[in-house]
Amino acid sequence: MIQLIRGFKDILPGESERWQYIERTAVELFHNFGYREIRIPIMERTELFARSIGENTDIVEKEMYTFPDRKGQLLTLRPEATASVVRSYIQHKLYARDPIQKVYVIGPMFRRERPQKGRYRQFYQIDAEVFGVAEPYVDAQLIHMLVTLCQRLDVPDVHVVINSLGCPRCRPGFREALARMLAEVSGQLCSDCVRRSTRNPLRVLDCKVPACQEAIGDAPAMVDYLCDDCRAHFAEVRDTLTRASIPHRVNPRLVRGLDYYTRTAFELQTGALGAQSAVCGGGRYDGLVKALGGPDIPAIGFAIGFDRLVEIAGLNGRQFADGPQLFIAPIGDAGRRQACQWSLELGAAGVAVELEMTTRSLKSQMKRAHRMHAAHVLIVGDDELAKGAAVLRNMATKEQSEIPIEDLVGNLRTRLAADKK
Ligand code: HAM
Repeated sequence: MIQLIRGFKDILPGESERWQYIERTAVELFHNFGYREIRIPIMERTELFARSIGENTDIVEKEMYTFPDRKGQLLTLRPEATASVVRSYIQHKLYARDPIQKVYVIGPMFRRERPQKGRYRQFYQIDAEVFGVAEPYVDAQLIHMLVTLCQRLDVPDVHVVINSLGCPRCRPGFREALARMLAEVSGQLCSDCVRRSTRNPLRVLDCKVPACQEAIGDAPAMVDYLCDDCRAHFAEVRDTLTRASIPHRVNPRLVRGLDYYTRTAFELQTGALGAQSAVCGGGRYDGLVKALGGPDIPAIGFAIGFDRLVEIAGLNGRQFADGPQLFIAPIGDAGRRQACQWSLELGAAGVAVELEMTTRSLKSQMKRAHRMHAAHVLIVGDDELAKGAAVLRNMATKEQSEIPIEDLVGNLRTRLAADKK
């Protein structure tokens, strides 16, 4: 038997209802804040990700699904959505309509990481991006929107962690100071960090190896190197969060795994996830639109790990009805013919209906209806047709009643609607 690929997964009926509910809740909230959907391809030219995420990141160095197509063009399954959204914003000159664009993307991303709980090779993100607003209020608004979503979905134990990564004016000074410090402790760093300390020293800050964390105990903090503008921006983001009663913690080690960030970087972390504690990550990327060939337009966004959100959202104990409202159990050919007609009309009229099409006995049909968690069963055979009334059984109360066959669809809809209340 051919099994699915390691790190990939199926989302089965019974689970997909949770995904759909969470997606609907997020989309409704995003629409309230003026975001609109953008759909982008699942594959792009490799160069797009290499240039935006950064050549010296784990994602680009080790994790991308990259392959040549039949003509030798290098393509990559998207490891994230931001780069593609920026490409699309530039390519379609969305800024010419209005530089301020607020968009969201929901879909699969691909990273060849080591699979474990909460970490997959095909995973899903709920991603939102805002172009054209440099003011710190939007940073706070995005975080507020995320916290609200987590509250609506009953996600336990959520903490907002933020940092400022500075800008091209102030970051080089910090980078130098950090590199100097790393050179002094290089003997205590893991081999990855030794490499990172010269090529991409910021990456060392979020290395998960305990020895590295210990070695960099005295590492300088970016927040101490911010230029006046970046410092004022960060202070206003924090003040706005405080005014909105959103508790948050500054973590000077929060650098994120993608190189495009400037100024505000943030994560929503939760204790409910074990090692993979980030349910969401994001930040500003004021230089990316220009770096990819567009105008100089600031931007900011986030991506929620959809898989992780599904795993931990309590949803206030919500259960999803997975059975049909009505299961039609016909007996005999005439009953089946009539039942088929009704099922077509009922389905079109908005009733979740399941028609038994096989010729199995009423007893086994009832068993199947029970297994499917059908709310009601409608029985129709020769006797019912002769009498002019079908039998409706409420599966929860086991009550049976007769429904006149004349205008059965209308009668039944009224009855089911009344029963639902
Ligand atoms: P990221 O931190 O790489 O950021 O990913 C965002 C979220 O996706 C993570 O916090 C995590 O919940 C989820 N995630 C990442 N990798 C995996 C995986 N292998 N399995 C399951 N979940 C995963 C970005 O992707 C940026 N594009 C976010 C952003 C948008 N920044 C600005 N705009």
